[in-house]
Amino acid sequence: MTETPTRGAFLRDVLAGLSVPEGEQKTLPCRWLYDEQGSALFEAITQLPEYYLTRTETQILTDIASTLAKHMGEGVVLIEYGAGASVKTRLLLDAAHTLRAYVPIDVSEAFLLQTAERLRSDYPDLRVSPVVGDFLSDISLPDVEDGARRCGFFPGSTIGNLSDEEIARFLTSAAGLVGRDGLFILGYDRVKPLSQLLPAYDDAAGVTAEFNLNLLAHANREIGSDFDLSAFRHEARWNEVDSRVEMHLVSTRAQTVTIGSTRIRFSPDETIHTENSRKFSDRRMAELCQAAGFRVVERFSDTDNLFSVVLLAPE
Ligand code: TRP
Repeated sequence: MTETPTRGAFLRDVLAGLSVPEGEQKTLPCRWLYDEQGSALFEAITQLPEYYLTRTETQILTDIASTLAKHMGEGVVLIEYGAGASVKTRLLLDAAHTLRAYVPIDVSEAFLLQTAERLRSDYPDLRVSPVVGDFLSDISLPDVEDGARRCGFFPGSTIGNLSDEEIARFLTSAAGLVGRDGLFILGYDRVKPLSQLLPAYDDAAGVTAEFNLNLLAHANREIGSDFDLSAFRHEARWNEVDSRVEMHLVSTRAQTVTIGSTRIRFSPDETIHTENSRKFSDRRMAELCQAAGFRVVERFSDTDNLFSVVLLAPE
């Protein structure tokens, strides 16, 4: 196999996450969930009856789009982190008629470029400048309109997939990127009963299971590992101490997986921890934002208080 930057980084991540001493938790970084198939599966998750997050956030954004547009004013550059299919973005694009440019950032290149093409044809006056990249590493913006006001957009409770340190780093660098007169729109999921929380991450149709297992399929395709997908199953667990749903891939039997010249042993029921989806109280999120130099200008929730969207501005 030829070495590409992606393949090299993926291989390093897999070896680092799985070659841990016996008895320690194996992990795989969640960003490898989102290859082209993973991105498509995630779009399917957002349509599931159990997955209340997308529906609820979309409703909130629909209700507040004109309020957000007023805060933004004219000629803003909208920067979206982890853009996916940019469905929610359209709500902002429709409300803010005078956006100067839209910069979607995503790791999944094919998906990103396809989305950018669609937006260009639907919004012929809008400049769309996609950036392929991991928003956790430092992003350099294409030369979009120096001096224009910038507004960051980070919906989908993707912030809940980050650790406290990652949130601090991400929000601090985002505050720097949008600048003194910038804005930032952030969506996050709130703490709620497990009876509602867990099914959102373990749906009856098995789409989330397929999404999680695709990480192993992605590794097989990209780095030539030999994970047997029928010998792992998806599990969603609540971790009360860290207020998060944890996604695991459970080895259903003793097995050995080969990655290049490395052999990784799994005992029965041993898991690979693939993703966290943290749930926040409004107060906790306000603290995290403040620590990174943002203040909460306004907070919006749905009538059932499932989800929150906050408008932030640099302190
Ligand atoms: N940001 C989404 C969330 O935390 C990501 C997500 C949804 C996800 N379902 C998932 C990640 C299943 C891994 C597995 O809700």
